[in-house]
Amino acid sequence: MIVSSTTDFREAARRKLPRFLFDYIDGGAYAERTLARNVSDLADLALRQRVLKDVSRVSTATSLFGVEQSMPVVLAPVGLTGMYARRGECQAVRAASAKGVPLCLSTVSVCDVDEVAAASSRALWFQLYVLRDRAFMRDLLARAEAAGASTLVFTVDMPVPGARYRDAHSGMSGPNAGARRILQAMGRPQWAWDVGVMGRPHTLGNVAPVLKGNTGLEDFMGWLGANFDPSIQWKDLEWIRQSWKGPLVIKGVLDPEDAKAAADIGADGVVVSNHGGRQLDGVLSSAKALPAIADAVGDKLTVLADGGVRSGLDVVRMLALGAKGVLLGRAAVYALAARGQAGVTQLLDLMEKEMRVAMALTGVNSVSEIDRSILAETR
Ligand code: FNR
Repeated sequence: MIVSSTTDFREAARRKLPRFLFDYIDGGAYAERTLARNVSDLADLALRQRVLKDVSRVSTATSLFGVEQSMPVVLAPVGLTGMYARRGECQAVRAASAKGVPLCLSTVSVCDVDEVAAASSRALWFQLYVLRDRAFMRDLLARAEAAGASTLVFTVDMPVPGARYRDAHSGMSGPNAGARRILQAMGRPQWAWDVGVMGRPHTLGNVAPVLKGNTGLEDFMGWLGANFDPSIQWKDLEWIRQSWKGPLVIKGVLDPEDAKAAADIGADGVVVSNHGGRQLDGVLSSAKALPAIADAVGDKLTVLADGGVRSGLDVVRMLALGAKGVLLGRAAVYALAARGQAGVTQLLDLMEKEMRVAMALTGVNSVSEIDRSILAETR
């Protein structure tokens, strides 16, 4: 199969993965309206075509939190990535770091932070969830720091797991997820072989100490619900700010008031995100929420965004709306599931090429020149 876009990678991933895993990646909350709008609001954004502007020096290079990168892209934290390809987080980070962009490792990854840091040729970003066991959280932070993680991404839009119908249908969000996983793996021998589920048992590496003998996969959503702490408030973030010396980014902000609160607690950045439409269906798409947040805190914080980015052109659109960098969620894991490390490399090459074309045809040579002036309609 010739693969030349995220749509192709998605289709290849659909063919390769057991249904319950594909649906876990591909799906969103409730009727998936926010998920759909993340994609369509971005894709609907018209750009101004400009001509004869000397675009012979187009460069996608930028820096985030003082670190140079080849383009304004970060691989988003995605749980269970090691179930989509063998040692999936390591394959993804090899591709990302070779390309000169960071990967943000999820709390609920299969490979732990030490294994992934060892596979990476640049500093990792590390994503933290609010767990009830604060002593364990401190421990995890210390492990991430010792592994050389540079940037901490603290995800705040999951005080409770969202209701995802596809996961309910597939059994992913029920207590039988583990049993179903084995059954479905039988129906996908190529995947089972590639990922190695029949050999070394998979477990959630970073949180293994609090799994009490389980792998964390038997009842994944149940485990999240039992261990995530819904009582967290802004003032609880003070100790995280104090204990993490490097850049701190709050992920899952969709409202300018919350973005201001993030600035007040001393965060360095926010990710404008609705968790890829996986939490509360009906909230604004990231593309619609982003401009007001960039206006409110863009001079104080590094504003990043994710949700619905499926091409290099979409990256440029997010930057035009006010983001300084963009996280890739599904696009990257479709590519990983389809072709492992080579797939992620191919995807990043594609994104860069598409960014260059979009920049040339909107008349800009550098990432810092991309702003709302390249949009055809002011919103
Ligand atoms: C996620 N996301 C996520 N976010 C996070 O902070 N920690 C996590 O463990 C996960 N896990 C996760 C699993 C899967 C399968 C998906 C699709 C997403 C959210 C992710 O970081 C990002 O915000 C969205 O994926 C962005 O939307 P797109 O790019 O997928 O449209």
